[in-house]
Amino acid sequence: MVRSALLNVMMGAARKAARSLVRDYGEIENLQVSRKGPSDFVSSADLKVEKTLRQELKKARPAYGFLMEEGGEIAGDDKSNRWIVDPIDGTTNFLHGIPNFCISIALEREGELIAGVVYQPLGDEMFHAEKGAGAFLNERRLRVSARRKLEDSVLATGIPFHGRDGHEPFLRELGVMMKNVAGIRRFGSAALDLAYVAAGRCDGYWEAGIKPWDIAAGIVLVREAGGYVTDYEGGNKLLETGEIVAGNDHLHQPLLRLIKSAHA
Ligand code: IPD
Repeated sequence: MVRSALLNVMMGAARKAARSLVRDYGEIENLQVSRKGPSDFVSSADLKVEKTLRQELKKARPAYGFLMEEGGEIAGDDKSNRWIVDPIDGTTNFLHGIPNFCISIALEREGELIAGVVYQPLGDEMFHAEKGAGAFLNERRLRVSARRKLEDSVLATGIPFHGRDGHEPFLRELGVMMKNVAGIRRFGSAALDLAYVAAGRCDGYWEAGIKPWDIAAGIVLVREAGGYVTDYEGGNKLLETGEIVAGNDHLHQPLLRLIKSAHA
């Protein structure tokens, strides 16, 4: 498999940044943790990872801008290209010693998401995709699941954290989904949820109130694995609305209809 220079840059940055992350995970109890708000933790590990990612990506593409979970928007000289970065997606898991977290890096070009890397360092699972070139887990090509029936499908979702909006609407959505699908999982990392849809491990995923850095890379993964990802209206305003529904071509529309019915 010949990988593009762009993906090599993104994957190299993720691997480098993961070193400190894995070290810090090993001594989680010693981390200096500060609270940004209820259930929204920022750790020194998070900041270290973001710094390394920024350095590595900047070294390779000096003019590109950034949108980062901690650092926010950093304009570049090149207004067409922007990295969208989550240094640790699954921060709550990380801080609780639950090994489901990842580094997520996407590239947006002219407003379109064109490449994504989601790296789960503990399992050494490197999910990567570039527009038109397919999605992969390490060297293996990915394909979304082929399940056709909602009642056979397993979905991932995100439950709004304490102190965030959206508890009531989420409970309505959950109520409808529970009656229609085989099972629902809350893994705690939206980027990995999307990577799991791309890998066919989950048949679908939905969440509201999600940030661009949580989903940007995963969106590319699902699309390149043959799946569909939209906002709740079936449109492409995912990063603006923070609403996301992903699934294969049999399940995506039925999932959208279920969400609509939850709010009718
Ligand atoms: C969170 C995770 C979680 C999702 C939350 C996100 P963070 O990201 O992706 O699965 O349900 O909405 O905020 O805070 O760990 O980067």
